[in-house]
Formats: sequence, structure tokens, C-alpha cells
Amino acid sequence: MQDRQAIPSLTAVLKDTQQEPMVRHEAGEALGAIGDPVVLDLLKEYSQDPVIEVAETCQLAVRRLEWLQGGEGKQLEDGSTDKNPYSSVDPAPPAVSKSVSELRSILLDESLPLFERYRAMFALRNLGNEEAVLALGDGLQCSSALFRHEIGYVLGQMQHPAAIPALCTALERSGENPMVRHEAAEALGSIGKEDCLAVLQRYRGDTERVVKESCEVALDMLEYENSDQFQYADELVRLQG
Ligand SMILES: [Fe+2]
Ligand SMILES: [Fe+2]
Repeated sequence: MQDRQAIPSLTAVLKDTQQEPMVRHEAGEALGAIGDPVVLDLLKEYSQDPVIEVAETCQLAVRRLEWLQGGEGKQLEDGSTDKNPYSSVDPAPPAVSKSVSELRSILLDESLPLFERYRAMFALRNLGNEEAVLALGDGLQCSSALFRHEIGYVLGQMQHPAAIPALCTALERSGENPMVRHEAAEALGSIGKEDCLAVLQRYRGDTERVVKESCEVALDMLEYENSDQFQYADELVRLQG
């Protein structure tokens, strides 16, 4: 929503170390998405948070705010970088026109800053072809859990069946971060094919609450899409962007 009125409550959530890391992450990301530089010092402070997912989120949000301030954001409005077909507010802008193999190398290069790798991620998503989907799926093997969860999220946006094997592996991987398994489950629900249904049913009884609930939501969505109301839901999703 990018509403400045949410800044105080999002700040409180980010500062609350008793809160779930996933919730603090979303609060930090939302502060970056709003794009007001008033939170720059706060985000710099929490870039050192002991919870790595929170720290990385704030580092990305700082880079996004600096990018906006640098006027580079103008490029997007001029159409000189690839457009986002999903109209989501992303934590990083897409990388400027590169081939899938170049983008894949940047995406998987763990020596590069997370912001640059996110830029490659969103450029691959915007390309949207099968080769891009497979490159993104390879990102589910990278070392940052925050990065892997974002890969899960964009694969859910893309709804491409070529992502199913990599997403199933992420959901099934024992010891995987719950944030990553959550996004994998939701992405499988949004792709909505037969083989997604089987794996979601298997994990709807998971001992990890966030995984169990994500599978429940994903299965409800699947059921809904296969019902008479499919047309309606489809239309609604399109309207909401
Ligand atoms: Fe997230
Ligand atoms: Fe999520």
C-alpha cells in the first residue's frame, strides 16, 4: 500500500525482538517499499540485527532507499529498464537488460551484494520464460534463507509449472527455514497443478505451524480455483494485480 501512515506501527514491529523473524522481515521490507528516507537511520541500525533475515532485509531496504534517492528510479518510469508485469512493489528494481545466462550468473554469485542478486532475480522474473524459471529454481540452493524465500515468492508470482520440482524439494527439505517452506507451499498452491496438490496434502499436517498453515491456505486456494467460482477468483486476482 506504500502508505506513510503505517510507518510508526511497522517501526514498532521491526524493533520488537520478541516478534517472529518473518513478521519483523515483512515490517522492514514494507518500510523500504514505502520509500520515505525518514526511516533510513532506523534501517541502517537494524542492518546489524542479530537475526540474519532481519539484518539482510534492512540492508536491502537501505539500498532501495538510496537507489530511489539517487534518481536511478527515474529509469523505470522512462521505460529504459524491464517492466514488472505483476505491479508488486519489489525490494529491488530489476537489473537492466541482460541475457538469462548473465542474470543467472549474477543471481547465483554469493560474492556479490544481495541487492545486485535481487536485481537479477526480478529481471529474470520479468522475462518470465522457462529458462528464467529454471535459473530462479537453482537459486533455491543458495545459502541465504532470505534470498531463498524471495525466490519462492517470485516463483509463486510466475505460476510456471517448470518450477514445481525445485519448489517441492524446498518444501520437503528437512531443516529448511520455515520462511522458505512457507513461500514454497504458497507458490505450489498458486501454480495449482495435480502434483502440487499431492505434496501440499502431505505437509498440511507439518509440525511447523507456519508450514502447516501455508499448506492449508494453498490447498483452499487450489480447491477454490477448481470450483465454480474459479472465474470469479481469476478475475479478482487480475483486478488486484
Ligand atoms: Fe517476505
Ligand atoms: Fe509470504
